[in-house]
Amino acid sequence: MIRPIVKYGEETLHRHAAVVLDITADIHALARDMVETMYAAPGIGLAAPQVGAPIRLFVIDLSLGHDHRGLITLVNPEFVEREGMQLEEEGCLSLPGFNATVARPERATIKGLDLEGHERFYTGDGLLARAFQHEMDHLDGRVFVDRLRGIKRDLIVRRIRKQIRSGKW
Ligand code: NI
Repeated sequence: MIRPIVKYGEETLHRHAAVVLDITADIHALARDMVETMYAAPGIGLAAPQVGAPIRLFVIDLSLGHDHRGLITLVNPEFVEREGMQLEEEGCLSLPGFNATVARPERATIKGLDLEGHERFYTGDGLLARAFQHEMDHLDGRVFVDRLRGIKRDLIVRRIRKQIRSGKW
């Protein structure tokens, strides 16, 4: 089932998400829906807070569903290592119409649980390292504009507020 994606300004997006204590049938259903929602959008990553669930779970698939081996589902993810720095433009399904150049690690190793409760490690560079950091940020209540400074950030936030006020957001 495709779930509605919440946008910048919704409370769950700006709050620290809770640790998953038990991988229940509801969590399985949520993860399945998140994958479907991500593919439909389409996007390469989606965090649970983006569908209004304030828990530490995300899905990533750089192949957009074209290669089933590309799907990563992680519960309670944590960084093991981050190194280097890359500057690339990125966007977010919760901030449609906006993007900006954001500094991210060039390479990252992350660990978490799969839906069976087994510990999994993933190492990625480039776009995958960027996706890891982007989705981890969501779990900490942070979106990419929060990584920007000064005028760049203000400009995007002001435009969003204007859209919210006019009911177009
Ligand atoms: Ni995002």
